[in-house]
Amino acid sequence: MSVTVRVPAKVNVQLAVGAARADGFHDLANVFLAVGLYDEVTVTPADELRVTCEGPDADRVPLDRTNLAAKAAIALAERYGRDADVHLHIAKDIPVAGGMAGGSADGAGALLACDALWGTGASRDELLDICAELGSDVPFSLVGGAALGTGRGEKLTALEVGGTFHWVFAMAERGLSTPAVFREFDRLAEGRNVPEPLASRDLLAALAKGDPDALAATLSNDLQPAALSLFPELADTLAAGRTAGALATLVSGSGPTTAHLARDPASAAEIAEKLRTSGTCKSVRVASGPAAGATLVEGRR
Ligand code: C5P
Repeated sequence: MSVTVRVPAKVNVQLAVGAARADGFHDLANVFLAVGLYDEVTVTPADELRVTCEGPDADRVPLDRTNLAAKAAIALAERYGRDADVHLHIAKDIPVAGGMAGGSADGAGALLACDALWGTGASRDELLDICAELGSDVPFSLVGGAALGTGRGEKLTALEVGGTFHWVFAMAERGLSTPAVFREFDRLAEGRNVPEPLASRDLLAALAKGDPDALAATLSNDLQPAALSLFPELADTLAAGRTAGALATLVSGSGPTTAHLARDPASAAEIAEKLRTSGTCKSVRVASGPAAGATLVEGRR
């Protein structure tokens, strides 16, 4: 038998970044919103651990033990004293190295799928602990919806969202490495006092109300200057989104995917069409949020 889990992408509607900590990570106030672009991870018993991937960016996905899906299977197997003898297949629709937590989605998906396949009986908290060990964004990929992440982003508080937000995502020709973007953030912050990262009350109120205009007025990403510094052409994509009628635009997480907030589905479709023909990005997708977190779609035991 096999088990398939579907996991959403995320956009950070606020990403407040503090100074580098002694361990090299940064304290964050990270407001995650899961959006309806999905990877699917299918796990099947096998002789030994193997990862395969299909999808538009599949050639850019590592298939060895550095893949977060493989790391998740190994971490769960170690905890339950068994072999990670599974074939993990990733049907990838979330952009690779795009700032939308695609790798984290595969980690959370593999964890939930292996857990169901092996019937470990692990509690939600145990799974969340493993997610946090795998990476800062992995716990959010498991829970989905909307949440405030503090610490390095892994300590989650669920947030109320009073409506559906409509987005257009513009994918770039190349990826950006998250560590490189944080390093650039540190370089740009040299000699400056970096304030403690705090969630914006106005932004949380906009989410709770489901008000796109209020959310547009409060979107922010402290990593955006660093992403633009490493990938200056992204400024053209952001400008094209604004010209196309987006309420607001920002770089998603560490980038380079850009997120364009629309008032409604019709406006999202129009912005998407204009961005597609703008010549400032590789491809364009429309998606709305909040979306549910990692969910078993097939092969429930
Ligand atoms: O936690 P994760 O493995 O996803 O982080 C990838 C990299 O991003 C880290 O190695 C670190 O360079 C950077 N990072 C950070 N502060 C965070 C999260 C990530 O500096 N809160």
